Amino acid sequence: MDVYPVNQYDPLMPGIMIAIVAVVHVFLAQFAVGGGMLLCYFQWLAMTGRSANARLFVHGYFKWLVLISFVAGAVTGVGIWFTSIQVSAFTIGGMIRNFHWIWATEYLFFLLEVFAGYMFYRYHQKISDAACMKLLVMYAFAAWMSLFLINGIISWQLTPGGWIEKHSILEGFFNPTFWPSLFFRTIVALTLAGLVACIVVNTMQSLDQEAKRKLINYAAHLLVPMVLMPILGGWFLLAMPADSRGWVLGGSPTMNLFLNISIGASLAIGGYALIGLYLQRLYINGATATLLLMLAFGATAGGEFVREGSRKPYSIRYWMYSNGIHPDQVAQMRKEGCLVHDPYPLVNGTEVAGEITTRGAKVFRRQCAVCHTVSGLNGVTELTESWDEDQMRMNIAKLQHTKPFMPPFAGNAEDLESLVRYLKWFNERNDEQAEAPMEEAALADINKWLDQAGTEPASKPPGREAASSEGDS
Ligand code: HEC
Repeated sequence: MDVYPVNQYDPLMPGIMIAIVAVVHVFLAQFAVGGGMLLCYFQWLAMTGRSANARLFVHGYFKWLVLISFVAGAVTGVGIWFTSIQVSAFTIGGMIRNFHWIWATEYLFFLLEVFAGYMFYRYHQKISDAACMKLLVMYAFAAWMSLFLINGIISWQLTPGGWIEKHSILEGFFNPTFWPSLFFRTIVALTLAGLVACIVVNTMQSLDQEAKRKLINYAAHLLVPMVLMPILGGWFLLAMPADSRGWVLGGSPTMNLFLNISIGASLAIGGYALIGLYLQRLYINGATATLLLMLAFGATAGGEFVREGSRKPYSIRYWMYSNGIHPDQVAQMRKEGCLVHDPYPLVNGTEVAGEITTRGAKVFRRQCAVCHTVSGLNGVTELTESWDEDQMRMNIAKLQHTKPFMPPFAGNAEDLESLVRYLKWFNERNDEQAEAPMEEAALADINKWLDQAGTEPASKPPGREAASSEGDS
């Protein structure tokens, strides 16, 4: 059993670090996908004589944006790998091990995207319209295929479906949320491209207001599929595990808030786009279009937060907890302790009082740090501030019952007592108390509570509910 320590970023949670990079990346990458489709559409408008200005748009303006977005998308994509391996090397390892052929295929499409995009960028003035169109279609197709492939892996994390029993790659890939998520993201991609196009049209100095309005109304066609969002969102929610759905729909106030932000922002964009731009054929100025794009960023951020958050306590549902521990390792770790395979010292400068608090800090890093800070965002010392030692011992021993989106505690009584000592010490700085020998009675209590909690998570795979004797809170 290898262990890779979580990199702690106090006062920020590691999850937030990934989220910041991921939201920016998803936004850029989805824009690049929609941008490809928009270029094809406008190239077609130009080639069929429907809009002369569409040519100016494709060849003069938009290509820059697509170039920037796919370079920035690629860089932030690497950024996701870079942050996520520091936070959960196991999750990334699991994703790569299970889906290496899919990643490899994705990489080929990415190369095709770069090739087609660059060829168009470089040679569009020298080649025929038909050749331009071929390159743009190739670019758009390759970009969408990247989305198609990565979508299978990302949605598998939340709903691994039949993969859990058979480890069949196909069942994992075409999992229960694959299709709603793919269609939803495709529509988001079109929406982002349509909104950016509205901003870009506003910057085209050589066009008069009427010519701009016409182009904007064409761009608004890309926003029309938004009418399907409620259906796809509902489909996605239905395909989600019931407990995740419960949290999103109200069980977790934070997640519910983010969901509502996402829905509210989408409604505002969709309403404006459909009624104003599509039905009434109005003009939209650069400032309003930028505002709508910012709303779209908010919707993306809210949506990604909900998707990530609703996976808890797992990073790969039913198979690996967010802290990289597999459900079937918990019983063993209860016996042997959670640090026997963890050779890593604490980061230089970590404050501790001695041996016991050092152990406590390591237990924290191994089991809690991926979702909590010691002190800061979701800081455990703040969350437990009003608890006495026994409350801490009991609530941490029964972690999966304290909050169902936490995994069961995966260590022995000494691990847990060290963690409690460390957290207490962190607030009170009483070295003597923190490093005093452990008491048999306290350890016995912890063992009793650990036994009561059991090693099963609060959210079990479908068919395994009956297997557990523990009542869920
Ligand atoms: C999968 C992510 C995850 C892991 C791993 C995790 N927690 Fe939590 N924990 C949470 C979330 C989310 C909350 C809710 C915070 C809130 O309600 O604001 C929470 C809440 C808590 C609370 C407050 C409970 C209450 O009743 O108010 C405590 C204490 C806590 N966690 C301790 C721990 C400790 C100790 C560990 C490690 C042994 C741990 N957690 C591991 C996600 C996690």
